[in-house]
Amino acid sequence: MNILSIESSCDETAAAVIRDGREIVSSVVATQIEEHKLYGGVVPEIASRRHCESICAVVAEALEKAEMTAEEVDAIGVTFAPGLIGALLVGVNYAKSLAFGLSKPLIPVHHIRGHIAANYLAHPELEPPYMCLVASGGHSHIVEVLDYTEFRVIGRTIDDAAGECFDKAARAMGFPYPGGKYIDEASKLGDPTRYSLPDPHTQNPYDFSFSGLKTAVINLIHNAEQKGEQINANDLSAAFQHTVCKILERKFIAAAREKGYKKIALAGGVAANSGLRASLENAARENGMEFFLPPLSLCGDNAAMIGAQAFYEFQKGHIADESLNAFATMSIDKVRF
Ligand code: KG4
Ligand code: ZN
Repeated sequence: MNILSIESSCDETAAAVIRDGREIVSSVVATQIEEHKLYGGVVPEIASRRHCESICAVVAEALEKAEMTAEEVDAIGVTFAPGLIGALLVGVNYAKSLAFGLSKPLIPVHHIRGHIAANYLAHPELEPPYMCLVASGGHSHIVEVLDYTEFRVIGRTIDDAAGECFDKAARAMGFPYPGGKYIDEASKLGDPTRYSLPDPHTQNPYDFSFSGLKTAVINLIHNAEQKGEQINANDLSAAFQHTVCKILERKFIAAAREKGYKKIALAGGVAANSGLRASLENAARENGMEFFLPPLSLCGDNAAMIGAQAFYEFQKGHIADESLNAFATMSIDKVRF
C-alpha cells in the first residue's frame, strides 16, 4: 500500500510516499527555518503563508521522486494535530481536497505518533509493545506504545518541553534559532562540570520540569553580565546538555524498568542530540534493554514518519470524512477527529 503523506504542523512543509508503513519511496522537506531565524522563533502567520506557497510544489516533487501520479497512490495521510493551527489547516485542507477529488481514503495522523513511527522506517524488526521517550520542540513524554495506535502516557512535562528549553537556553547564550543543535555542537568543546545547574523535582517521578533549568541558565548569564564576567558558552552548553540528558535518561529508564520493558525507543527533534543518543545507548546496554532510535534525517519534522503512522491508522479503520478539522492540542492517547 502506497500512502502519500503531508506534514505542515510547524515550520517544515513536507510530503512523502511511504510503502506499507516501513519503506520510504520518496520524502521531501522544505524548511522555513532561515526566515523564522530572523525573528528568533517561529512566526505563526509567516509559517502558514509559506506552507500555502510551497505545498503544491512539495507534493509534486514527492510524487515525481516516487515516479508515481496522485491517482496511483492508495491513500492520503496528513498531520491534523497537534501544532500551529494555521499551519496545520494548510496541510489538512490540501490533503482533504486531494483525497476527495481523487476518491482516496483520508487518514488523519497525530504528529507525535508520527515522530514515534519514524522508528518503523529505520527498524523493520521494531514492533509494539515498547516504551518510548518523545522529546521535541513542543512535547516531552514517556509513553507506553501498547500497539501501533494505542498509547499510554506515563510522564509528561509540567512546563516547557525539552526542545523548547534547549532553544530558550541557546537564545540566552546568543545562538540562532532553533538553538538545540548549536548547544549540541558547543557542548562537544566544553567542560560539563564548570557550571552547576538544578535538577528540578516533580511530584510524579516520571514527569519533567524544564522551566527552572532554563531560568537558571538565564540567571547565570545575567549575573555574569552584571559582574562584567564572561560566560564560557561551550562549558555552559556542556553543563546544560549533560543536565537535560541525565534527567531524561534517569526518568525514562526508571519508568521502563518499573513497567518491565526490555525494548525502548527515542523519538522527536531532540532525538538528534548526540549526548542524549549516547547516554540512552549506554543506559540501555547497562540495563539489558534493546534500544531503537531514528537516523538523524528522521528526527526533525518530516512527512515520511506521518506516512508510516498513517499505514497503521488505516489498518485500524481510522479514516476521516470531508468534515476533518485541525487541532492545536491533542493528547497522543486521546485522538479524536
Ligand atoms: O520534533 P521537532 O522537529 O519539532 C516539533 O515537533 O516540536 O523538534 C524540534 C526541536 C527544536 O527545539 C530543536 O532545537 C530540537 O528539536 N533539536 C535539538 C537538536 N536538533 C534539534 N535539540 C538538541 N540537540 C540537537 N542536536
Ligand atoms: Zn515534530
